[in-house]
Amino acid sequence: MQGYRVAVVGATGNVGREMMNILEERKFPASKVHAIASRRSLGTAVSYGDATLKCEDLETFDFSKVDLCLMSAGSEVSKAWSPRIGKLGAVVIDNSSCWRYDQDVPLVVPEVNPDAVSGYKKKMIIANPNCSTIQLVVALKPLHDHARIKRVVVATYQSVSGAGKDGMDELFDQTKSKYVPGVEVAARKFAKQIAFNVIPQIDVFMEDGYTKEEWKMVAETKKILDPKIKLTATCVRVPVFVGHSEAVNVEFENPITADEARIILREAPGVMVYDKREPGGYITPVECVGDYATYVSRIREDATVENGLSLWVVSDNLRKGAALNAVQIAESLINRNLLKKAA
Ligand SMILES: NC(=O)c1ccc[n+]([C@@H]2O[C@H](COP(=O)([O-])OP(=O)(O)OC[C@H]3O[C@@H](n4cnc5c(N)ncnc54)[C@H](OP(=O)(O)O)[C@@H]3O)[C@@H](O)[C@H]2O)c1
Repeated sequence: MQGYRVAVVGATGNVGREMMNILEERKFPASKVHAIASRRSLGTAVSYGDATLKCEDLETFDFSKVDLCLMSAGSEVSKAWSPRIGKLGAVVIDNSSCWRYDQDVPLVVPEVNPDAVSGYKKKMIIANPNCSTIQLVVALKPLHDHARIKRVVVATYQSVSGAGKDGMDELFDQTKSKYVPGVEVAARKFAKQIAFNVIPQIDVFMEDGYTKEEWKMVAETKKILDPKIKLTATCVRVPVFVGHSEAVNVEFENPITADEARIILREAPGVMVYDKREPGGYITPVECVGDYATYVSRIREDATVENGLSLWVVSDNLRKGAALNAVQIAESLINRNLLKKAA
């Protein structure tokens, strides 16, 4: 079969497994898919549709035999490997934060800045944004086009799967331990207990008191959507397995009503509006799991500022926040004839 030869690096991880699912679900034109992880996982079985792939070892894999590399094995791995893989001719789409702020690397959300993919040639790398940024800019872009955003204040409610498979295990084990007298599961991945709790820290602290996750949302929104937008974020880890939520307050230059925003968002790519002003008339994270959409609910005018709106934005962080966005970037390359395949 004629198609692209694809490597998924980090195939045993939360994001890597979703990449396998999404490649298959969207019938990505792959002639061959390689599942790659660390030596620890050599031979581990990973599902790709009805097929089972055996994991290969990153250190010994020959990347000259692939056209596309979907990378989700963290920053350290990406820093060492993405340039090498690019030099061998494959385009790397990287999920870590390693390359996102490099001016020679495009940072892409296909519903927002799809044409930016063409800038990949200098390093052969395209960066996938942070999960919280992706769903935010998908919802903001159509509103920005209509009324120009001046300032955004966002509080996130981020699921533990955003911290990898170890984060999910920690919530599961701590939750179980609360029902078993005498069993305590200490905080390992997170700074404090995550079960039955919320933690106002994601990633490390910066000098100004913000965390790195909060800084990423600022820098990435500017790079993807508009450098003039002012944004301040508070990022919070919550005891939810999958699905990030965001309470978003937006101040616009020009007037926009809640009804106008609802109409605009209903037409916007990648967005689903579910907004009934009644109990349960909104989307919660458990309801978005497995979906592609960014859901927008609770759209209302903020009377405390001129031209203000408040929104509730929810999406599957492993899908639109990571794997789906990466595969959509690859599809954008194909649509523009920018991804070569072996003759
Ligand atoms: N989870 C999210 O919502 C999300 C969203 C956006 C971006 N990301 C980013 O995506 C990346 C992966 O996240 P994740 O949640 O999938 O993490 P994860 O569940 O912890 O999985 C990590 C993956 O990386 C592999 N890996 C780690 N060290 C390696 C090495 N030295 N050599 C080869 N493979 C190695 C692991 O393989 P082994 O099993 O063999 O150790 C595993 O497949 C991270 O950069 C993360 O920041 C995650």
